[in-house]
Amino acid sequence: MKPTHRPTLFSGAQPTGQLTLGNYLGAMRTWVRMQESHDCLFCVVDLHALTVRQDPRQLQENIFELTALYLACGIDPAKSTIFLQSHVSAHAELAWLLATFTQMGELERMTQFKDKAQQHKHNINAGLFTYPILMAADILLYRTQQVPVGEDQKQHLELARDIAIRFNGLYGPLFQVPEPLISTDGVARVKDLQNPTKKMSKSAEADLAKVMLLDTPEMVLKKFKKAVTDTLGVIRYDEGAQPGVSNLLNIWCAATGHSRAEALEQFSHHQYGRLKVETAEAVNALLEPIRNRFHALNADREGLRAVLEEGAERARHRANAVLGQILDALGLPTMRQRFSGL
Ligand code: TRP
Repeated sequence: MKPTHRPTLFSGAQPTGQLTLGNYLGAMRTWVRMQESHDCLFCVVDLHALTVRQDPRQLQENIFELTALYLACGIDPAKSTIFLQSHVSAHAELAWLLATFTQMGELERMTQFKDKAQQHKHNINAGLFTYPILMAADILLYRTQQVPVGEDQKQHLELARDIAIRFNGLYGPLFQVPEPLISTDGVARVKDLQNPTKKMSKSAEADLAKVMLLDTPEMVLKKFKKAVTDTLGVIRYDEGAQPGVSNLLNIWCAATGHSRAEALEQFSHHQYGRLKVETAEAVNALLEPIRNRFHALNADREGLRAVLEEGAERARHRANAVLGQILDALGLPTMRQRFSGL
């Protein structure tokens, strides 16, 4: 692998609870594919998770589980850099520096902050407010060219771009201005099974609303059987009139690799029950190898630690080189001991 010839891609997920089928089909599966064409960094953003109060033991467990899930889904440490945000101190350091280039008004406009402040009224901490600055630091530290983002993170990426442009305007072209990478594989966003006009979210309260990657086959079947549809009684693709049925068709297509036309050919003369069961079966076929690999990987904590340490080593080297240049540009004398030879 020659990272320098490939565009750099950065993405991250918070170690807060398990991933859903929506996370897999909408994000992780694309990450796995991107490893072939991009110089990828995949980060477990544990510092971001601290913006909401966490139980330390549970957090540590979630960090290892998310790492094992990355690997189980096909993220390969021989191709990509997989690491923990807190292992590379340059993230927190650059976040401080970038905070001085970010306006209060810009942060106040962030819709995710407004939503989270509503949800966590008793703990609207400053970290929740400056969260997008840390995310900008994650991205800019690696001169990232492309960031795969879902709808909910677009505004944060836009802010990272604005910060980079502002900094470059003052000190020269030190940061790469990152671009969003919009998924092109045509997989529509997976919707909540109980409320199919909303996206499937890992924070949804109802268990039946979301399929988790580690659900047992029986749980997956049960959730699809109970999925909300409608009373029209025909299988058609119409997101407006039949969001539940359309969601099932989309999931079946994404899980099997078939087109929408093929899905309609297969199901249009059948009843909803058949579509539900076959979608559950397709999802189980997709998830079974991931679940199996996950359980073996997750049991080997020493192996996971080794992967993370090796990833941190690589990430640290790259991040410190960029951080050194930024400190220099700002007029802060850097310590040779730390930044030499980079
Ligand atoms: N904020 C992102 C989320 O909650 C996670 C994240 C942190 C991230 N840093 C990132 C995503 C950098 C992409 C790039 O989904």
